[in-house]
Amino acid sequence: MEREKLITRLGKGLMVANLATVVRVLRRGFRNLPARLGTAFNAIDPLDSSPDRFLRRIPQTELQKVVARLSPIVVDERYACIDGSLPWVDLLTLITIARDRRPSVMLEIGTFFGHTARLLALNLPDCVIHTIDLPLTFDQKTDDGELPKDDFHLIKGREVGKAFRGAGSLSNIVQHSGDTATWDFGNAPGATVFFVDGSHTYEYARNDTEKCLAAGKGRPGTIMWHDCDGGHRGVIRYLAELATKGYPVRRIAGTTLAVMDF
Ligand SMILES: C[S@@+](CC[C@H](N)C(=O)[O-])C[C@H]1O[C@@H](n2cnc3c(N)ncnc32)[C@H](O)[C@@H]1O
Repeated sequence: MEREKLITRLGKGLMVANLATVVRVLRRGFRNLPARLGTAFNAIDPLDSSPDRFLRRIPQTELQKVVARLSPIVVDERYACIDGSLPWVDLLTLITIARDRRPSVMLEIGTFFGHTARLLALNLPDCVIHTIDLPLTFDQKTDDGELPKDDFHLIKGREVGKAFRGAGSLSNIVQHSGDTATWDFGNAPGATVFFVDGSHTYEYARNDTEKCLAAGKGRPGTIMWHDCDGGHRGVIRYLAELATKGYPVRRIAGTTLAVMDF
């Protein structure tokens, strides 16, 4: 990625420093030149590096086309939409697809406060919801993991599983602690539906997806990803790669979710 950025910058620089620039300096002098060069530099995009380039490669579909039917969903008073958790439309879409697939075991990567895990457990009472988050002792400064993480403000501010702990807690949630770069996905045995929402770098999107595919191997299953949008370049770059390789990954219109059956 760094290499791609460097090439893009070089290309932009060469395009800005062209004959037209020389002619302009000869005719009008250097007045306003830095500002104009800056504007030109920002406007030029020789490698089409905008997020749209990746999003365009991931086909989009409607929720109704990936489920047999829409069914009523329960959301109770303990639900809260906080920064870092799923907004309504994504939450309802995720639960709708999960319910449609009727899994006995599900795995969520990225518990955070646990609002999504809790509502999955409430709406899929016969399913065991495994959910994993980084250990509470995780410290960005001492992290020596090989894969780059992101969203450190969320990691710092999380209260893992708070939403489903305590009074009225559900018995079908299993909390795990670990880094998905090294965690054994066999700790969620029998999982067929996976929700990927941990670190959103390219490296973690790939790591988590490949491990879900390996864990679900031999049975039909479904992976859903959150944050399939322009703000999460690592996720869309990886999903665009999958789509280009022929994997049936689709974005769900009106949401930032992507889904793939395997
Ligand atoms: C965007 S939040 C997840 C939101 C949650 N799925 C929800 O719907 O409310 C991302 C979470 O992933 C966790 N996380 C980040 N990197 C991780 C990793 N490598 N392994 C496990 N969890 C990770 C963070 O600590 C954070 O709590």
